[in-house]
Amino acid sequence: MRKRLVAGNWKMHGNLQENSALLNALVTGIPVLGNDASCAVCVPYPYLASVQSKLQDTDIKWGAQNVSQYEKGAYTGEVSASMLNDFNCTYAIVGHSERRMLFGESSQVVAEKYVAAQQAGLVPILCVGETLEQRDSDITEQVIDEQLKAVTTLAGVNSLAKAVVAYEPVWAIGTGKTATPQQAQEIHHFIRQGIASQDAEIAAGLTVLYGGSVKASNAAELFAMADIDGGLIGGASLIADDFIAICKAIRS
Ligand code: PGA
Repeated sequence: MRKRLVAGNWKMHGNLQENSALLNALVTGIPVLGNDASCAVCVPYPYLASVQSKLQDTDIKWGAQNVSQYEKGAYTGEVSASMLNDFNCTYAIVGHSERRMLFGESSQVVAEKYVAAQQAGLVPILCVGETLEQRDSDITEQVIDEQLKAVTTLAGVNSLAKAVVAYEPVWAIGTGKTATPQQAQEIHHFIRQGIASQDAEIAAGLTVLYGGSVKASNAAELFAMADIDGGLIGGASLIADDFIAICKAIRS
């Protein structure tokens, strides 16, 4: 049975007061999801300590939205995977399209971050996805293949046994334009098939999330697709009732 996951990506939102109210609501509102399903929030670095103290005795996990590819050293402004460990993070998102596009992270750098996260015992949530232009030019599969290959070349396909992949079409992120369940399933299937061609068992066990304008109203139909194992949630993860409803939608 594949593990299912709903992870919130708060991005650069929140403050101590708002976070506290949101987390209180999540702690009371998210039911026990069972052995094969969990939920998590990926928060800005400065809030990790307070999130840890709020969530440590609950079923909700937490993580960061980025991590340095370096272990330590003169890298002003960077945060290492072992620092994230100090706050008992479970997850680190790597290769979010906003990191790739706004901060110039190449697939090679993303692969190095993925390795750094895993070496510290964190589970990387590796984001892949195409822009609208790439989709219109019919190169979606090529783009995703390149993004995944950078990781499997550096870390090996077996590394995916301890990772999560998130398919996030860039044109669906924060736009309110969700991929249809069929569109998403098509790419999720492509991702799983590509990995199956290297290792069928790893592919069968890999949790592949969909991200891009997932809402309380469309989560269930997305999560019902054969190769969609949950979601990476941006905007809706900031609204307690919406995020709770999305978490409940992975139970079935
Ligand atoms: P969104 O963001 O849910 O606001 O579209 C998803 C993401 O960027 O991970």
